[in-house]
Amino acid sequence: MKVLVTGGAGYVGSHVVKLLGEAGYEVLVYDNLSTGHEWAVLYGKLVVGDLEDKKKLRRVFEEFRPEAVMHFAAYIVVPESVREPLKYYKNNVANTLNLLEVMEEFEVKRFIFSSSAAVYGIPEKVPVSEDAPLKPINPYGETKAVVENILRDLSEAKDFRYVSLRYFNVAGADPEGRIGFAYPKPTHLMIRALKTAKGEIDRLEIYGTDYPTPDGTCIRDYIHVMDIANAHILALEYLFDGGKSEVFNCGYGKGYSVREVIEAVKKVTGKDFTVVETERRPGDPPVLVADSTKIREKLGWEPKYDDLEFIVRTAWDWERRR
Ligand code: UFG
Repeated sequence: MKVLVTGGAGYVGSHVVKLLGEAGYEVLVYDNLSTGHEWAVLYGKLVVGDLEDKKKLRRVFEEFRPEAVMHFAAYIVVPESVREPLKYYKNNVANTLNLLEVMEEFEVKRFIFSSSAAVYGIPEKVPVSEDAPLKPINPYGETKAVVENILRDLSEAKDFRYVSLRYFNVAGADPEGRIGFAYPKPTHLMIRALKTAKGEIDRLEIYGTDYPTPDGTCIRDYIHVMDIANAHILALEYLFDGGKSEVFNCGYGKGYSVREVIEAVKKVTGKDFTVVETERRPGDPPVLVADSTKIREKLGWEPKYDDLEFIVRTAWDWERRR
């Protein structure tokens, strides 16, 4: 089976490409390398190209003839999306339309989309389930919600089926150690904490300690990148088996506070580092935890790495070697 993977040189994409390769899929990665890396593509061919370049994309479809597309290529930094909304709508929405149009031209009818828990905004109920209203609170989340709506309409109108996976807080690295998070200027908590442990950052800031949570800091559902990657393989098999279009949360259904993550990082790394409490960061929901019943039931997804310290350890092993 041939799968075209956009953004396959990036963080989540590269872990999925590894699993696809191991499972015997034929892979072509289409990535502009704006944040991805050639070394991260462990299987298949890499074509360096932008989704804006429809001509190039057509040539790739013409030659490779994919049977399904997995779409990871997108910008992901929430604060940047607030400052540069057009950049986000252009890449995450307009370029996705280019991809869907080329798929239609070449009659490729199966699609896996990297969505985000950011589509929920500040959920009224946690754990949040897939039928909660989509109320994003930043342009990044809006772009993901818009694409989900496009996909829903498209699959109702045409012979086109998709799975949209709403990621919660993806973290960790491939336990085999060849790939991991390698994004410039990381904003994510666990990576920043590890870089502070490593001495690359002077001190770690906690953004807000007055949230309505037991220790006053925000709670998130951290999921190991390999468990997320495996969900993509199951979703692909589901579509190949004739499954209908679906949306699934990808999280463990368990949350950890910012302070708990920092403690886990200190424990695993064996390093103490300076932590300072600062103001809230705008747009942070107090608690974001997945109800993951649906993906477990419908795709038979069973997480392997549901253990915060293990997640931190794999991320640390990776970070230390960089
Ligand atoms: N945080 C800190 N200090 C830091 C970094 C983060 O206190 O240096 C806090 C944040 O305020 C937040 C929590 O740690 O409360 C987690 O923040 P992250 O930036 O690691 O992750 P987010 O939950 O903000 O965002 C992640 C993805 C988004 C996605 C969202 C959906 O980065 O792309 O999850 O759940 F939209």
